[in-house]
Amino acid sequence: MLNKRVEEVLVNQIEKEAYSSNLYLAMAVWADTNGLDGISQWLYAQAEEERLHMMKFIKYVNERGGKAVISAIEQPPAEYTGVKHVFAQVLEHEQYVTELINTIVGVCLEEKDFTTHNWIQWFVTEQIEEEASVQSINDKLRLVGDHNLYMFDRDIMAMRKSMAASAE
Ligand code: FEO
Repeated sequence: MLNKRVEEVLVNQIEKEAYSSNLYLAMAVWADTNGLDGISQWLYAQAEEERLHMMKFIKYVNERGGKAVISAIEQPPAEYTGVKHVFAQVLEHEQYVTELINTIVGVCLEEKDFTTHNWIQWFVTEQIEEEASVQSINDKLRLVGDHNLYMFDRDIMAMRKSMAASAE
């Protein structure tokens, strides 16, 4: 049976992962409607991943005797000033999610819920990978400047695949 405090932070994270998914969907739509096909594909794929994260939290809470809550989600911003703006926001958001995951780890330890502590480690690792992947995109964007966005847009999915392969 899930400890109440642990259940609360896990349920809170369901809404955060759902927001993450919608945030990346909104960014994907922005890219899609601005002729940035590769970037929109990357963001659509990222939105799917966030939905899977949300599902993991829902299933875990239910399996451990708690009850997942599906709440209203705040509307994400629809407009961005450019690609650099989008990826700066993605990085900032992922850093925020890492803090949230760390808070869950802390609550698990305080409540001596070592089962959930063990389970949440998957997300600890996932956040290291997500931050590294988005950081490398931001580094690349700094290098290409504003002139080679066409090439960047073409290459971004390949970057995603090579990150995934090196994480295996
Ligand atoms: Fe669900 Fe991108 O963290």
